[in-house]
Amino acid sequence: MRYSTALIAALAATASATTAPLPKMYTLEIAPGETIEVTEEEKFKMIDEGRHFFDITEFKDVHAAASRLFAAAPFPSTIQQNCAVKELHKKINLDRIKEQLTEYSSFHNRYFNSRYGVQAAEWLFARVNEVIEESGNPLATARLVRHTAWSQPSVIVSLPGIIRGHTVVTGCHLDSVISNDRGAGRAPGADDNGSGSMMNLEVLRAVLSDPRIADGDHRNTLEWHWYAAEESGLLGSQDIFSQYAALNMQVMAMLNQDMVGFKGRDGIERFGLVTDFTDPAQNEYLKLLIGNYTDIPYEESLCGYACSDHASANRNGYPSSFIFETPFGNHNPRIHTPNDTIEFVDFDHVFQHAKLTTAFMYELAHATFA
Ligand SMILES: *[C@@H]1O[C@H](CO)[C@@H](O)[C@H](O)[C@H]1NC(C)=O
Ligand SMILES: *[C@@H]1O[C@H](CO)[C@@H](O)[C@H](O)[C@H]1NC(C)=O
Ligand SMILES: *[C@@H]1O[C@H](CO)[C@@H](O)[C@H](O)[C@H]1NC(C)=O
Ligand SMILES: [Zn+2]
Repeated sequence: MRYSTALIAALAATASATTAPLPKMYTLEIAPGETIEVTEEEKFKMIDEGRHFFDITEFKDVHAAASRLFAAAPFPSTIQQNCAVKELHKKINLDRIKEQLTEYSSFHNRYFNSRYGVQAAEWLFARVNEVIEESGNPLATARLVRHTAWSQPSVIVSLPGIIRGHTVVTGCHLDSVISNDRGAGRAPGADDNGSGSMMNLEVLRAVLSDPRIADGDHRNTLEWHWYAAEESGLLGSQDIFSQYAALNMQVMAMLNQDMVGFKGRDGIERFGLVTDFTDPAQNEYLKLLIGNYTDIPYEESLCGYACSDHASANRNGYPSSFIFETPFGNHNPRIHTPNDTIEFVDFDHVFQHAKLTTAFMYELAHATFA
C-alpha cells in the first residue's frame, strides 16, 4: 500500500525547483496523463512522504488506458458456485497462514533492490511450488518473472482453463519498504503486504484442492500474481500488465489485495471497496460476493491515483478492483515502520479476505462472461 495525503501542486513545485543536469532522471506519472521528471533522491523523498505515482521510466510506451480499453465483458449477476466455494472455505487454514507469515516477515526486509528482497521472492516461489506439487495438479505452473531494471522478481502461477485466453487474476505485492530508508532497514511488512501474499498462497492451495479444478474442468484461466517493487512506483505490476497488453492477452478481471490483516482504527470491521480508478461493473460484482460469502460488510472508499497494483491493470486497459483491509485512512497505522509485525495482524480479518478471494477465483473460473 502506498499512502498519500500530499498535494500534487507542492509536489510539482518541488520537482521543477531542483532539476539536476547529471543524475539519471525518473519519469513519474502523478495523475492521468500528467508526468514529472525527478532525480532518484527526489523519487525516494516522495516515497517517504507517501506520495502516489507510477514510475513509468521503463514503461513509456504504454498509453492512456481509456483509448485501448478492451470491451469489458459482463460479470455474472448471480452466485453460481455456492456449494463448491463453501467447501473450499473449510480448507482455509489460518494457522498455516500465520506460520508462513511468521517466516515471510522474518526477512530483514523485502526491499525490491536488496538481496533480502530477492531472497524473499525466491522463498515465496519455493512455497508456491510446494503447494502445486502437493496438489498433484498437472496443469498448474509457476514462474519467476525476472525484470530487467531491478533485481527482485515477481511470481506468477497459471492454471489454464478450457478457454485459455480468458484470464482471471488475483494479485498482491511481495515487496516491503520502510520510510526514510534505502533498503538496509528492518521492514517486516507483516500486514503491508505480507498478509496479502500469504493469504493468496493459502487461497491457491484451497482452489487447487477442488475436484473440478483438478480435472481441468473450468472455462477460464486462473492466475495468482505476487508483484515485485510495488512500493517503488508499481514497477512489477506495470511490467507484467504492459506485457500482457502488448501480447493482447484478455484479462477479464483482476482483484488486488494489498493489506488484509487489520480491522480498523475504530474497531468497526468492514472491507474498504475502492471506487476510484477501478472497474464499476467488477466492483458491483464484488459487492455481490461480499454479501454472499463473507461475514462483514463493505464501505466504499477512495484511494487516489496509482495507490496500488490494481492501478497497473487499469492503466493497461483491464478491469480491476481493490478490496482493502478497511476504508482508506482507517488502515493499519504501523505500515512502513519496523512495527508492522505479526502480532498486530488480525487473522480473523485475513480469513474474511480469504473467503472473498476464494469466491472470486472459483466463481469466475466457471463464468461465461457473456
Ligand atoms: C509489505 O510490507 C511493507 C512494509 O511495511 C510494505 O511497505 C509493503 O507495501 C508490503 N507489501 C508487501 C507485498 O510486502
Ligand atoms: C448465496 O447465494 C446462494 C445461491 O444464490 C443462496 O442459496 C444463498 O442463500 C446465498 N447466501 C447468502 C448468505 O446470501
Ligand atoms: C514502534 O512502537 C514503539 C512502541 O509502541 C514506539 O515507541 C515507536 O515509536 C514505534 N516506532 C515507529 C517507527 O512507529
Ligand atoms: Zn502495500
